[in-house]
Amino acid sequence: MSSVINVAIHTSQFPVEVRRDLLESLRARRVNHKFHYDSVRQTQQWLALHQAYSPTRNDADCQATYEKGFKAAADQIKAKNVHVIGLGCGGGQKDTRLLKLLKKAGREIFYTPCDVSKAMVLTARRTALAVVPDKNCFPLVCDLATADDLPAVLDSRIMHHASRITTFFGMIPNFEPQIILPKLASLVRPQDCLLFSANLVPGKNYVAGLKRVLPQYDNPLTRDWLMTFLLDLGVEHGDGDLGFKIEDDRTNDLKRIVAGFYFTRSRRIEVDGERIDFRAGETIRLFFSYRYTPERVRKVLARYGLEVCDQWIAKSEEEGVFLVRRSGVSAERR
Ligand SMILES: C[S@@+](CC[C@H](N)C(=O)[O-])C[C@H]1O[C@@H](n2cnc3c(N)ncnc32)[C@H](O)[C@@H]1O
Repeated sequence: MSSVINVAIHTSQFPVEVRRDLLESLRARRVNHKFHYDSVRQTQQWLALHQAYSPTRNDADCQATYEKGFKAAADQIKAKNVHVIGLGCGGGQKDTRLLKLLKKAGREIFYTPCDVSKAMVLTARRTALAVVPDKNCFPLVCDLATADDLPAVLDSRIMHHASRITTFFGMIPNFEPQIILPKLASLVRPQDCLLFSANLVPGKNYVAGLKRVLPQYDNPLTRDWLMTFLLDLGVEHGDGDLGFKIEDDRTNDLKRIVAGFYFTRSRRIEVDGERIDFRAGETIRLFFSYRYTPERVRKVLARYGLEVCDQWIAKSEEEGVFLVRRSGVSAERR
């Protein structure tokens, strides 16, 4: 294998754009979650906490739930060539399981691991190379929230005549639905399918269920991962406290778990010559994670022309996988 590989970098992740987004996050006191996956250290920390807490890594039933979704998507595709586009691919473990299944079914497989983090894209590529030939792998670094031309980018550079399965696993919790879902909908062609997963609230009582899952966030590995962003900018642990709470999003009839750092003393930081002052008593929001119910997934996707055709919910009720199509596309057109 060559020691050099091609990774495409979309302009949305060029240094000037990343600097703009970072300053915006700091000025608004609301951190864009993409900054928690930026460095190699953050990538390693996230992969470790994912390994420790994600049901997809530790719960056989949750893994089986994903397998059912993979099988259903693979069964629907009749074409010989199948292109899997992993949006926010992370370490690429789930996409690779889907690719394995497609390969076993005799398909020629192509893979685009797509993520805001170069380290994640490279990790996902390496994971997928166990099943996908190197020549069929097209890593892409891109900010899904700000790139406006992704449908054209994907059409122009890769295999537009292959059938596509787009994956969007574990992504929806960290985005405002109204920002990301129009973009996601524009990436699903009428003949394609989308595999989508969401962290759910277990049980019938939405608030009680949220309280039950709070320890999955408020733990030492997650705290260390979230703090790395501030520490790298020169904030110190002693400058304040990291806290977690449950917040309402009435517009979307959803609730989310929010992590914020509350400054107990003033701190000045500098980013490329720009000074930003945090005063004692201020809070910077570091992270949020929406928790859905299956009904809320269906409702919110429908608002953007996406229809859930099938769903698989883990026995823990904490995670669901959804097979999604563009609404109003008849079976013959697929
Ligand atoms: C919670 S992880 C999910 C990873 C993977 N899909 C999985 O299920 O294991 C979120 C991923 O989204 C990526 N991400 C965050 N913001 C993004 C953005 N604006 N555009 C593209 N990727 C983004 C992160 O780098 C990270 O790999």
